[in-house]
Order: sequence, then C-alpha cells, then structure tokens
Amino acid sequence: MSGAPERIPLARPVIGERERELVDEVLRSGQLSLGPMVPRFERMWAERAGTRHAVAVSSGTAGLHLCLHALGLGPGDEVITSSFSFVASANAIVFTGATPVFAEVDPLTFNMDPAAVEAAITPRTKAILIVDIFGYPAEVPALVDIARRHGLGVVEDACQSIDGDHDGRKLGTFGHPAVYGFYANKQMTTAEGGLVLTDDDELARVLSSLRNQGRSDDGAWLVHSRLGFNYRLSDVHAAIGVAQVERLDDLQAGRARVAGWYQERVRAMDGVTPMYEGPQRRSWFVYAPRLEPDLVRDEVIGDLDALGVSAKPYLPCIHLQPYYRAEHGHGPGEFPVTEAISASTIALPFFPEMTEAQVDRVCEALAAVVAARRAGRPGATARA
Ligand SMILES: Cc1ncc(COP(=O)(O)O)c(C=O)c1O
Repeated sequence: MSGAPERIPLARPVIGERERELVDEVLRSGQLSLGPMVPRFERMWAERAGTRHAVAVSSGTAGLHLCLHALGLGPGDEVITSSFSFVASANAIVFTGATPVFAEVDPLTFNMDPAAVEAAITPRTKAILIVDIFGYPAEVPALVDIARRHGLGVVEDACQSIDGDHDGRKLGTFGHPAVYGFYANKQMTTAEGGLVLTDDDELARVLSSLRNQGRSDDGAWLVHSRLGFNYRLSDVHAAIGVAQVERLDDLQAGRARVAGWYQERVRAMDGVTPMYEGPQRRSWFVYAPRLEPDLVRDEVIGDLDALGVSAKPYLPCIHLQPYYRAEHGHGPGEFPVTEAISASTIALPFFPEMTEAQVDRVCEALAAVVAARRAGRPGATARA
C-alpha cells in the first residue's frame, strides 16, 4: 500500500479536445507551416488586445530579439532593463550587439523603478526594455515618458503578463511593441511560441519579413530583401494557440481563483510574505511569495520536496548568472533590492486546474516546514 500522497507539480497546461481537434485539422491539411492557422491566431490576438497587428513568432525570445533588432541596435549601444527577469530579456539585447544596463527594481512590484531607469541613462542609451515581472504591470506610462524625453526606443517584455493591462489599457496599445511568450507554463501555451503586439504598420511589416528569412514584403518567392531569421511559428503550434485563446478567459479566471486561495492562506502564515496586490491588475503567471530572511530558501525547497510538493527558486537575477559575471563583469552587491528579492522568492505549484485541497496541502506543508526550520527541527515535518 502506498501511503505517499501524489506529487503536486509546479505547472500543468490545460489541453483538451479543442486543441486536439485543431492540431488534427492542420495535420490533415498537409500545410504544417505558412498556412492559414497562424494568421487566424494573429487575428484573434489583435482583436483581443485591440492592436492593429499581432505578429506570431517561434518564441518570446525571438519576438524580443526581432523588436530590438528592428530598433537598429548595435555594438556600443546600451539598453536599460531589469535584472529581475528571465535571462532571455537581457540575452535578446546581447544578440543585437548592444549591452544590457540593469536598473534597480521596486521592492513591492519587483518591476523597474522609473527613477533608477532615468539615472541609468547615458549618451549611449538607445532603448528601454520594460519587463512586467510575475504578470504585474510595470510603470509603463512613466517609463514611456522617460523614453520620450530622452529620445529612446521602447520594447515591452510582457512574456509573463499575457493579456495584461495597465489601468485597463491593454499592453501592446501604448505605442511600443509588447511581446508575449507561450511556453507551456504560461497563462496560455502554444508549446513553444510568441507574439508581438503593435499598432505600427511599418514595424509589423518589417517583423513579418524578419521572422521569415527577410523575405520581400510583396511575398515574392525566395526573394530576400533583408537579413532575416527563421522565427516562424508553425501552424501546428498556432492551432494549439487558437484553442487556448478561445478558452483564455477561463484559464485566467482559474489562475486568479487559485491565487486567491493562496493569498488568503499565506497572509495568515508566519515567515512568508504573500504576493503584492497593488492598484494594478496582475495577470497571474506564477505564485511566488517571499520567505523571510532567516529562512534558507533551498532548505525550504528540499523539505517541501520530501513532502511531495514541487517548488523552485524563482527568479535568479540575470546579472549574477555565470555568463553575465564572466562576460559582462557583474557581481553581487550591485543591485541590493533585486538580489534580496531574488534570494527569497519561491515558486509554488500553480496552474488553473489546481484544487483548493491541493492549495491547502501546499500551504500546510509550507507552514509546517517553516515552523520546523524555525524551531531548529527541520527533519520533523519530513518524518511526520
Ligand atoms: C520575462 C520573460 N522574458 C522572456 C521569456 C522568453 O520566452 P520564451 O521561453 O518563449 O522564449 C520568458 C519565458 O519564460 C520570460 O518569462
């Protein structure tokens, strides 16, 4: 008899009959790429976000790279961004030859502090890469205003903020491109994929060409008018995406419901700070509360693991990644707020179909682990 409770995973996509039906439709059509499913997916998104264009790409990283590339960045240029992000934000800057310059974040929202962004501007600064981390919108209007005053380009990494808005105004409608990523842990998925939302006709035209090997804009066969990439989304992936957009309201409501259960329990817990709830709507991507400084996160994660609960350190800051230390000369102590947040946030299991009983189990385990660690009896919970 196995008495061990089922392990609760960190994330789990919702895939049903509709996804299978549309993928099957593509497979039967024989047109697996450059077919009608990608434009269908793009139209759905443009309509939902209220933008003139939605350009589908093979990943969020590809979308960021293309938008930054389209700004004409090169060696010697600087782009200001957040170190409290997934590494792809800064990598996409490095791909263009430019240098990422990190700005300190706000201790509540975990997004870039506009004053720190302004202070980081130099004569070499060419753009700001806004990041909406953990689905909480950055101070978009303030950052856009800084960019306008200093003549800088703006790209928004909204990969964690799918379907997000700022004061009710959808991301993607602020005059600069916003990029989504659709990896399987996201609010909706295409397995792998991404999307750029923009109102700019010229940018949409250039991005469409760049993702497709720089093909000429008149669609001529094998005429390449610019140096492009293969960053296309396939029709198979787009088919999953169409089904996911159809159910996106339900997926978002499911995440918000699970987040509500977590917030209620974590608020009453010793040693753990719930996620920030401010004036803006969060598009719930992860549930990652903060542990108080006396708790060693890796030990807590190990104890949770022994109880069948998956958890991860999330998010490591970019400037302390081995590559950025070795090649860009970064090190600890540069961004104390970012580093303190990054050392204490812990991602707990979070997906739309999570039940209240599962949230209870995670929270009971976390409370027990924290209490045992604080009492100096860490093994007690694992043996219980
Ligand atoms: C903030 C952020 N930027 C960029 C990306 C990259 O997206 P993708 O994995 O689709 O390339 C991610 C993915 O997790 C992300 O969270």
